[in-house]
Parts: sequence; C-alpha cells; structure tokens
Amino acid sequence: MSPKISEFAQSTGGSTVVAMRRAADALEAKGMKIVDFGVGEPDFDVPPPVSEAAIQAIQQGHGKYVDPAGLLELRAAIVDYERTRHRIKVDSSAIVVTNGSYGALSTIMRAVLDPGDEVIVIEPFWGPYRQMVKLSGGVPVGVAMPTVEGRFIVEADRIAAAVTPKTRAIIVNTPWNPTGRVLSRDELVGIADVAEKHDLWIIADEVYSELVYEGSEHISISSVSPDAASRTVIATSLSKSFAMTGWRLGYCIAPEALAPVLTKINHITTRCAASIIQYAAVAAFEYGLPFVEEMRNEYMERRNAVARGLNQIEGVICPLPEGTFYALAQIPEAWGGSKAVADKLLNESGVILTPGSAYGASCDHYLRLSFATSLETIAEGMNRLQRALPLS
Ligand SMILES: Cc1ncc(COP(=O)(O)O)c(C=O)c1O
Repeated sequence: MSPKISEFAQSTGGSTVVAMRRAADALEAKGMKIVDFGVGEPDFDVPPPVSEAAIQAIQQGHGKYVDPAGLLELRAAIVDYERTRHRIKVDSSAIVVTNGSYGALSTIMRAVLDPGDEVIVIEPFWGPYRQMVKLSGGVPVGVAMPTVEGRFIVEADRIAAAVTPKTRAIIVNTPWNPTGRVLSRDELVGIADVAEKHDLWIIADEVYSELVYEGSEHISISSVSPDAASRTVIATSLSKSFAMTGWRLGYCIAPEALAPVLTKINHITTRCAASIIQYAAVAAFEYGLPFVEEMRNEYMERRNAVARGLNQIEGVICPLPEGTFYALAQIPEAWGGSKAVADKLLNESGVILTPGSAYGASCDHYLRLSFATSLETIAEGMNRLQRALPLS
C-alpha cells in the first residue's frame, strides 16, 4: 500500500519533443551527428542590455520579493509595449507577471475552471494545453480543424458544434504552434462570436506575437471587439520574442474581474516571478526591440530555406509559415503514421522532427520542423531529408 497520488496528476501525459530529444541523445552517445529540428527555443543570445540590466539588479540588491502582480515599473513597460505593438489598451492593474507563459496559462486555468469544466482546444494544439486543463480538474476537448492545401485554418462552426453546457473556455493560439499560421481577423472574429454566444472565456496564447513575417500581421483576439476584450485573458512571455526561454518571465493581461484572482493564485503558487528577471525585463521592453527585429529577419531567411527544401521532396507539401519558428509539412498517408516516419528519420538519418501526432490525431501525416537553428544546420538537415525521402 502507498498513499494515493492525485488523479488529476496521473491523467497528464509527457512531452513528445522531450522524448525525441532523449532518443537522439542516446544515438549521439554512440557517435551519430544529430540535426535538431525539434527544439522550440531561439538559438540567439539574450539582447545584451537585458543581461546588463540583470547584473545591475543583482549588484543593486534587488533580490527581494516583489508584488505578486509584478513590479510596477515592469507592468508599466508592458502596458506601453502592448498598446504600441498590439493595440491593447489596458492599465497596469490588468497585468499579472508570471513564470513564463507556462506560469500564465496554468494560473489562468486555475482561475477560470471548476472540476469537470470543459475547455475547447483548437487542434492541432500545443500539447501542454491539455495537460494544464487536466491538472486544473478540467476536461480538454480537442476540436480538429480542416486544411486547405496543407494549411490548417480555423472554422468557427466546428468550435460552436463542440460547445456543451459544461464548456467554460476556448484556447486560441496565434501565431499558431505547430502550424506556423497567423490567424486572420475573420478567423478570430468567428471564434469571438462563438465565445460571446455561449458566454465563454477566451484564453489567448500570444507567445509568438513578435515572430510574424512579411505579409502577415499579428492580431490579438482581444482587439476584435469590446465584447472580446471583456472575455479574453492573454498569456504571453519574453521567451520567444527576446530569446529569454530560461529566464522564465511571462505575464497575463486580464479583464478587471479576473486580474485580482490571477494575482492571488500567482501569490499562493509562486509568491512572485523572480525579481531580478523582472528588472531585466524592463530593459527588454526599453532597449530590446531592435534585437527582436534582427532575429525576425534571420528567422525569415531560415523559414524560406526550410520551406524551399521541404517542397523539393516528392509528396511533401509545406505551406510557407506566416509566423512562429515552425514549419508544418504534410506527408503522404502511404508513408505511414508520423511517429513511425519521425522515428525512422531519427534512427537512420539523425534528424529530429516532431511527429504531427503530438498535436492531435488530425495532425498525423504531418511533421513539424523548428527553424530556430542556423542556416548551416538547415542546409545539412535538408540534405539528409532529401536523401532519405520520399519513403517507398
Ligand atoms: C504555444 C506555446 N505557448 C507557450 C509556450 C511556453 O513558453 P514560455 O513558458 O517559455 O513562455 C510555448 C513554448 O514552447 C509554446 O510553444
């Protein structure tokens, strides 16, 4: 006999990206050179003014608890940034600073869900959404989306059809991991209409908002109408935009009634996000945007190289990613399930790709490639893939 472990906890699953990396580590230990298109984090350095501000914060003794909603100076910098970059007009009381968007999302789930509440997760989805919903006692409901020429699009009617009396929220991720899509205003309005009709929360994950390429524009769903603003809670972070993944700094932007609840949960679960990093984040918003621009330009070149290389492979369709640093390539059903294809490419060619099945059953027959890696690595990876594919 041993004491019972939480059922919520046991209902959660693991990460395919981590599992693929572990399998690659074992091959690397045997001498295989690995090309990693799996990892979802920038390979760039943190902008120097941000590191300098962190060092200064340590030297000035800023390592104390701060307000659980976040440092006032940082919240003011976020308010300015969101207004000028994303047309989101809120004041500091709407901002709750968290440990990355993981922290923001799990705080939001706890704030809006009661046991048994359903959350609609637009599929293909980033895996942790379902796990976070379960860990908060909720029930994730994946809703598969259609494709047009290999490109996933959001069809609001499908979301509406999945709503039940238990539905409490819809998770919307734009720019959209793993698809590389940036949702259009029409798609967002469609989702917002469903949320309004059924009085649902919209949980908007905007962590890739800075990684949008020419011809596309990031639109926050909270900006599509006053009603959408009143029911949207945004989760975002500095991880992807400022190459600060390990610094763990994110935030929620919440409607008036929800922000104090988020602050309370943030307080109970973490006390506050790390103070030193909060000081560094102020510098990111003040001096970091030119560095973000440089990174975006480099990602765009990489994106072009990845899409070009993949589309040269017979049977593969890779729509040009509009945002994020992911390309999602459709592969022929005749090749078998995406997990088997990804395993074969790893074991025989030393290339890590994430199988589409990690993002929901409707995304099998797709492979996700992260282009957060150098052009040189991309060229090597494309050579290997072009030698190994098509599968017969
Ligand atoms: C869609 C999406 N949301 C959230 C996150 C979490 O990012 P962080 O907690 O570093 O802000 C990731 C990371 O890969 C992601 O892809």
